[in-house]
Amino acid sequence: MMEVKIFSGRSVLNLSKSIAKLLNIELGKSTINCFNDGEINIQINENIRGKDIFLIQSTCFPVNDNLMELILMTDAIKRSSPKRITAVIPYFGYSRQDRKIGKFRSPITAKVIADILYTTGVNRILTIDLHSEYIQGFFNIPIDNISSSSIFLKDIKKIGLKDIVIVSPDIGGIKRSRKIAQLLYNNNIVIIDKLRTKANTSQALNLIGNVENKNCILIDDIIDTGKTLCNASNILKLNGAKKILSYTTHPVLSGKLEKNLKKSNIDEIVVCNTIPLSKKMQRLSIIRTIDISKIIAEAIKRMVFKKSLSGMFID
Ligand code: R5P
Repeated sequence: MMEVKIFSGRSVLNLSKSIAKLLNIELGKSTINCFNDGEINIQINENIRGKDIFLIQSTCFPVNDNLMELILMTDAIKRSSPKRITAVIPYFGYSRQDRKIGKFRSPITAKVIADILYTTGVNRILTIDLHSEYIQGFFNIPIDNISSSSIFLKDIKKIGLKDIVIVSPDIGGIKRSRKIAQLLYNNNIVIIDKLRTKANTSQALNLIGNVENKNCILIDDIIDTGKTLCNASNILKLNGAKKILSYTTHPVLSGKLEKNLKKSNIDEIVVCNTIPLSKKMQRLSIIRTIDISKIIAEAIKRMVFKKSLSGMFID
């Protein structure tokens, strides 16, 4: 891995450190500061000429600052003559805005971000559980969208619950949930008919499938206000579910999350460290974090050694 360098933005510094440790590489030296008005100032403090660069940054809260940091770090790296730049974006912010929404004029923001990253000089993207798979088509460069399924699966097996049924909290999550169900038992999943009335507001209207006396495991990509999971847990309980757990990749965790959780029937929320938890969220005992660094390190290793990433996607 002599020719490889890993740099990190400030959003996921701890995750980047453990990825670098697993790969036996030191994090690349950079300085990131801000002017008083918020302008970001970047310096790359080592020679990276001809190197294969992996730049790790989640575009999570504060989304625009972290995105700008990723853009400026990419530019600083590009102007230092590397061989290639792979942006490793564990959580791809703005991914929920992947189509025109509503009856009025609106941007397709995920496409705008893809264009910005390409124009800035990113050669390749590695990300985890993109909100929708078709976002891959927004990029003019290769993108690997790996899945957290293997990590979730391991944890679900470890906790050893019996009479499990996998539940998709909405139509968009069917493929993701089905993958886990297939790896655990068979094709059968339960689906919740979710109605999203506007951003951050939704209702669970109907349940497709039987959950009576079952331990339910909800699979989702994002938990933000927690409304989706709380509504899902309540309709599951109403229909006779026993324990209700949720496995959700990206802990966006904003807004009225705590208030919503109080009204829910969820027993545990398992998330990945694609986004670090705030101190306040760390105090919520209902949330447990799983470390995702191993699968990112594995993907980077395979990319460096030109090996296939097959088995790391939701196929
Ligand atoms: C929506 O389609 C996503 O997959 C998540 O279900 C959603 O973003 C969760 O948001 P919230 O926690 O605010 O309901």
